[in-house]
Amino acid sequence: MKVTVVGSGYVGLVTGACFAEMGNDVYCVDIDRKKIENLENGILPIYEPGLEEIVKRNHSGGRLRFTTEIKDGLDDSLFVFIAVGTPPDEDGSADLQHVLAVARDIGRKMEKYVIIVNKSTVPVGTADRVREAVREELTRRGRNDLEYDVVSNPEFLKEGAAIEDFMRPDRIIVGTDNVRTGELIKELYAPFVRNGHPVFIMGVRSAELTKYAANAMLATRISFMNELSRLCEKSGADIESIREGIGSDSRIGMPFLYAGLGYGGSCFPKDVKALIQTSKEFGLEARVLKAVEEINREQRFRFAENVKKHFGGEVKGRTFAVWGLSFKPQTDDMREAPAIDIINALRDAGASFRAHDPIAMEVAKSIIGDESVEYVDNYYDALEGADALLLLTEWNQFRKPDYERMKSLLKKPLIFDGRNQYEPAKMKELGFTYYCIGRP
Ligand SMILES: NC(=O)c1ccc[n+]([C@@H]2O[C@H](COP(=O)([O-])OP(=O)(O)OC[C@H]3O[C@@H](n4cnc5c(N)ncnc54)[C@H](O)[C@@H]3O)[C@@H](O)[C@H]2O)c1
Repeated sequence: MKVTVVGSGYVGLVTGACFAEMGNDVYCVDIDRKKIENLENGILPIYEPGLEEIVKRNHSGGRLRFTTEIKDGLDDSLFVFIAVGTPPDEDGSADLQHVLAVARDIGRKMEKYVIIVNKSTVPVGTADRVREAVREELTRRGRNDLEYDVVSNPEFLKEGAAIEDFMRPDRIIVGTDNVRTGELIKELYAPFVRNGHPVFIMGVRSAELTKYAANAMLATRISFMNELSRLCEKSGADIESIREGIGSDSRIGMPFLYAGLGYGGSCFPKDVKALIQTSKEFGLEARVLKAVEEINREQRFRFAENVKKHFGGEVKGRTFAVWGLSFKPQTDDMREAPAIDIINALRDAGASFRAHDPIAMEVAKSIIGDESVEYVDNYYDALEGADALLLLTEWNQFRKPDYERMKSLLKKPLIFDGRNQYEPAKMKELGFTYYCIGRP
């Protein structure tokens, strides 16, 4: 089938590449000329395991094309996916300017029937606004004879496992009232659900809200565990034991039950905020989500405060080794990463850093800067002469380090672990002073 995907970021590029991998003809569109030029030359704008080879294979096979001009794809495609960013506006609501700009562009340039599929995460009611924006442009052109459909198809992929998630999704959500359109989308997705996982066809508004509900639920689990971890710290209980104890309950399950530095990234923070704002617009107060957000924000600053507390409130002149900068492992995405706030808080108090991240250092540099932060290629080098280690992202290689080597490099054997990677009893035995989250 012929597909155009507008927006070639995490979601758009993965979507385009995976559709092409299944034999579809795909145009990936982006307004960022440099990004498109790089993609043409096989240079990817993001790190995502497995993506590069799929992009290269399909690009050289002629099934995946890159362009800055939506028209290149529009004349040919039945489906036009919108996968542009929806960052938070000043009040926390989703900023729809990019989505609506694409809708207007489609209205200005379409010459035949298209199915506009919204993959960006957007508030309930956005499909109507997209429909109107297209209609306004068609009216302006005197082309109200042209027909189109607007569908909601939210994306649930996780960065770091995006290809796997897209290729084998737990479910596909399609919001449409049009039976034929629903069937066509099902046909497009059929190769991805050969495992029998469902394609749910539902109302457009339900589909739009389902995406927010999913992210809000996962964020809630994380904040719930972080809140509980504080009680554990006061009461002598161990949040890891509790996680095993409740996660093994089939009604609860294990995922997203880790206490730590809270959620970050491009989705949970903005989607929780947006859902709070949408509720407000409908005259409701999202009380659970407000608490979820507050706990999450506090969690990273509590960590920085605990570091300061250990040093009697004074970290001026101290140097910290930092292991991990990205908001989670297997990605170079630094958006809303706890490392940013933690480093800034301690840097403001006069500390400096030697930081390592396996993938995200270049991106981190552009956000955190290099004032008082040295970026080192080897994670053991970060420890040399440092007052303590701050473990901020749970990359696999940090799980089983050489403890003796760590001790010989650090000034004192002191670790602040924001991701509960090590066993407190073992660390004590090894002679470390070890701080973690919610464990005795
Ligand atoms: N990143 C994730 O893990 C993830 C997962 C599920 C859903 N989402 C949602 O998907 C959407 C996209 O997220 P992302 O992380 O891929 O964003 P991104 O910032 O990585 O990519 C968006 C791309 O859209 C391009 N763009 C903006 N305006 C455009 C226009 N008018 N025409 C063409 N291209 C344009 C930008 O240049 C950019 O390359 C968001 O709504 C997000 O909430 C993201």
